[in-house]
Amino acid sequence: MSRFKALRVHQSSTGRGARIESVTLDELTPGDVVVRVAYSSLNYKDALAVTGKGSIARGYPRTAGIDLSGVVESSSDPAYRPGERVLATGAHLGESLDGGLAELARLPAAALVPLPAGLSLLESMALGTAGFTAALALRRLLENHQVPERGPIAVTGATGGVGGIALGLLKRTGFTTAAITGKPDSASWLRELGADEVVPRASLAIAGKPLETAVWGGAVDSLGGETLAYLTRTVRPWGNIACIGLAQSAKLDITVMPLILRGVSLLGIHSVEVPRAWRLAVWEKLAGAWKPHDIERLIVRAVIGLEEVPRACEQLIAGGARGRYVVRIGGDL
Ligand SMILES: NC(=O)c1ccc[n+]([C@@H]2O[C@H](COP(=O)([O-])OP(=O)(O)OC[C@H]3O[C@@H](n4cnc5c(N)ncnc54)[C@H](OP(=O)(O)O)[C@@H]3O)[C@@H](O)[C@H]2O)c1
Repeated sequence: MSRFKALRVHQSSTGRGARIESVTLDELTPGDVVVRVAYSSLNYKDALAVTGKGSIARGYPRTAGIDLSGVVESSSDPAYRPGERVLATGAHLGESLDGGLAELARLPAAALVPLPAGLSLLESMALGTAGFTAALALRRLLENHQVPERGPIAVTGATGGVGGIALGLLKRTGFTTAAITGKPDSASWLRELGADEVVPRASLAIAGKPLETAVWGGAVDSLGGETLAYLTRTVRPWGNIACIGLAQSAKLDITVMPLILRGVSLLGIHSVEVPRAWRLAVWEKLAGAWKPHDIERLIVRAVIGLEEVPRACEQLIAGGARGRYVVRIGGDL
């Protein structure tokens, strides 16, 4: 059986770490479809897995990578034919399933989505889990009656993958946006992405009364912790906060006051296990009406090789992200 390269995460008594190895299909978790990987991408979760700073894999060794795009090599499920272009995001890749940072992946058919017309293999990974999650957040906001008239949407972690893509999606759907960032020197790029206003995170009141002057129509939050607590205190009546991440902290110290005195909603966003109909609908939107402009210039920070992944992951963990790393594996196949 032929061998191929994979970035595998190991756990030992000295900790967790990832290295590139030569493996065979037999060593991967079971699946119906073998995919020749064209591109993968780096999300915060990949950075946690690859640096060993987070416990992401459910079993070791595990091929890292929660996202992939590529071409079907073989399939025992009639839903997929050899040569078909596919993508996968979340769906337990890199956790209980071997993931996308490898030349070949073997996955259950249910983890895959046919690549929608309107997206290239590279564009789909420039978006990846970050884009899918931002779009899922927008869908949840709209379903819960968020309207532009309620005021600007605050987007935190704005220079990150989810935040940056959310800015563009919100702008395209008629909202005004405020990018809240730890990197105010990135203001001009954030405005190009879709920010109407750029707010340094350091200027936010990190402690305050349970209700402060309400300034935001709603919010998309990747940080958690003090920043999410601040948003609950400052979102206007009937506004929604899409709660996505924990880049600052998993802790949340709030009161119920914004919920019961302003009707503010905290919407949970979870991109891994998503009803299939929602997943397909969100990808159709991302490939069509919501497709971000100029993806390769604005969203892609760099296209890197498998060997460069560990160093890029260190940078993501340090909060140094600005845009998305796409990982070229086979490239356009
Ligand atoms: N719920 C889900 O299914 C789901 C899906 C995708 C991602 N996530 C989570 O969402 C978050 C963002 O993911 P991502 O892929 O967009 O990450 P990313 O590309 O690494 O961006 C994270 C951004 O957060 C800010 N940041 C990073 N570290 C920080 C810190 N210690 N304190 C305050 N701000 C910090 C930075 O933005 P600024 O400098 O501009 O502030 C950074 O660019 C992560 O927590 C990730 O795990 C969850």
